[in-house]
Amino acid sequence: SDVDLGGYEHYMLKEIFEQPQSIENTMRGRLSLDDATAVFGGLNLSPQELRGVDRILLTACGTSWHAALVGEYIIEEMARIPVEVEYASELRYRNPPTPRRTLVFGITQSGETADTLAALREMKRKGHPTLAICNVVGSTIAQEADGGIYLHAGPEIGVASTKAYTSQLAVMAMLGLYFGRLTHLSFDQGYRIIESLQKLPAAVEKALESNDAARKIAEKYQAASNFLYLGRHFNFPTALEGALKLKEISYIHAEGYPAAELKHGPIALVDEQTPSVFIMPRGVVYDKVMSNLEEIKARRGPVIAIASEDDDQVAKIADDVIRIPMVDEFLQPIVSIIPLQLLAYHIAQLRGCDVDKPRNLAKSVTVE
Ligand code: G6P
Repeated sequence: SDVDLGGYEHYMLKEIFEQPQSIENTMRGRLSLDDATAVFGGLNLSPQELRGVDRILLTACGTSWHAALVGEYIIEEMARIPVEVEYASELRYRNPPTPRRTLVFGITQSGETADTLAALREMKRKGHPTLAICNVVGSTIAQEADGGIYLHAGPEIGVASTKAYTSQLAVMAMLGLYFGRLTHLSFDQGYRIIESLQKLPAAVEKALESNDAARKIAEKYQAASNFLYLGRHFNFPTALEGALKLKEISYIHAEGYPAAELKHGPIALVDEQTPSVFIMPRGVVYDKVMSNLEEIKARRGPVIAIASEDDDQVAKIADDVIRIPMVDEFLQPIVSIIPLQLLAYHIAQLRGCDVDKPRNLAKSVTVE
């Protein structure tokens, strides 16, 4: 690759540490304090078309699909527009009923994923406006979609997506703001969301300080054969993405679940050898997640908690705690994924895995 490692041992680690900057680049020029909204230059939709949107469909594969899930939570909360998330590989053959004024976004880092391209073409053929959210300028999806949003995250070399994911999440937050301001958010509310977004790069920088803690926890659990990742609300997709990172690069079996679903099956997996990672920053579901955590401890499962810096409750019960800075709840997924990326990285590295080029995986999958 012509991108150099800049002193890091792997591209993945370099890209993890680039995130304060890549997120900043994604937001640059897109936040307007004058209008208290987000600004996107490439949507190519008339104001009339935009106001007509009464449903949004997000389609993607892999990590980008997890970004879509976060998008569903954010956009529905901020803009009160119903959002549907579909795996591109399912959407392309499923032929679901899609109301006429559905706006379709294809989310793909590479812009070349075969299933995502095919799903977008299919939706375009049915007359929907199609937009691309992608990182690679001039990629196939960028050429085929009616318009779109570039991530500007810079080239991502590691097969396991890290900085592209957090940039996708930043775009989701800005889309929530954008559609929210078209629908019902006040100037004040929009303004406050922008202020939160502006603090994000510094919060991610702070979250990177969890690197040493992640390394220590990795040493402790590197020999495990199974992991559970649990979170709720905005951090349910974080559980899925954290588990995917571990699977992809360390080849350890990991499952992500909404924490309350534990009791409907996965709790049967819990034993003294199976660590559970709880993503539980302060927020509306904190107490609920805490009681899910207690269910695991009652069965002697080891618990690693990703918790807010000022949480003095969780350390009494969790075996290990990684601290993350406080941000608004809709931005938590961007901060809480950082220690999980680092945990996966260190476990893979300790197990001698090829972090940047994991077996059986490709950076972009251009076959069906
Ligand atoms: C491959 C990569 C994943 C990625 C997925 C979607 O499977 O290994 O890291 O999330 O494709 O890629 P895209 O470029 O469409 O975001």
